[in-house]
Amino acid sequence: MDKAQQDALKKAAGIEAAKLIENGMIAGLGTGSTVKFLVDELGRRHQEEGLEFTGVTTSRRTQAQAESYGIKIVDVDDVDHIDITIDGADEVDSNFNGIKGGGAALLWEKIVAINSNKIVWIVDESKVVDTIGKFPLPVEVIPFGAGHVIKKLEAKGYNPVLRLDADGKEVRTDENNFVVDLHLEKIEHPTDLAEDLINMVGVVEHGLFLNMVDKVIVGDPNGPRVMT
Ligand code: 5RP
Repeated sequence: MDKAQQDALKKAAGIEAAKLIENGMIAGLGTGSTVKFLVDELGRRHQEEGLEFTGVTTSRRTQAQAESYGIKIVDVDDVDHIDITIDGADEVDSNFNGIKGGGAALLWEKIVAINSNKIVWIVDESKVVDTIGKFPLPVEVIPFGAGHVIKKLEAKGYNPVLRLDADGKEVRTDENNFVVDLHLEKIEHPTDLAEDLINMVGVVEHGLFLNMVDKVIVGDPNGPRVMT
């Protein structure tokens, strides 16, 4: 599948998911190229159809895009609930175990997700896998002592690689942390791995989102389909 085809599938999933947002809702808005299509469609509906909802965003990027359409965005601590969050994912299996954080927004994404009544992911069909792990698992790490955390991850056999930008500088999250990607190929026991990672001092969060999602909308060449 080339990038244009993949983008068409992402866009179809984003447009389909936008139908889930209704007037008066508080909606969590994820991050990434698939969510960008979602926000474009929500922006269109806001401007052309008068859709009024409040957004809680999972990154400064998504906030800027949503606000450029005039969508009202508030801080996660300014709402007492979130009706629904729509986000992308890097991989998802049939048990709804997934990897997120390819766009370095995993921490805010997980905070918004766990405070949401309903979670929907939008993915193109290439993200649906039998076993997660081929996509490198992002781990958000505090910069202080990050070298030691990376050595410990190495010793555990997790093949960590500090994420760098195109200029060779450490990628920083919206919380100014580093991202370390674990090259694992296959994650056979995601719950054990999640527990191990979250208990490491210096690790803030990891990109394993295990059975948190209610519905996955998959962009498929035959049209968007729903995994439930
Ligand atoms: C960002 C994420 C994204 O949702 C994930 O990387 C999917 O991105 P894309 O829609 O661009 O493929 O987790 O941290």
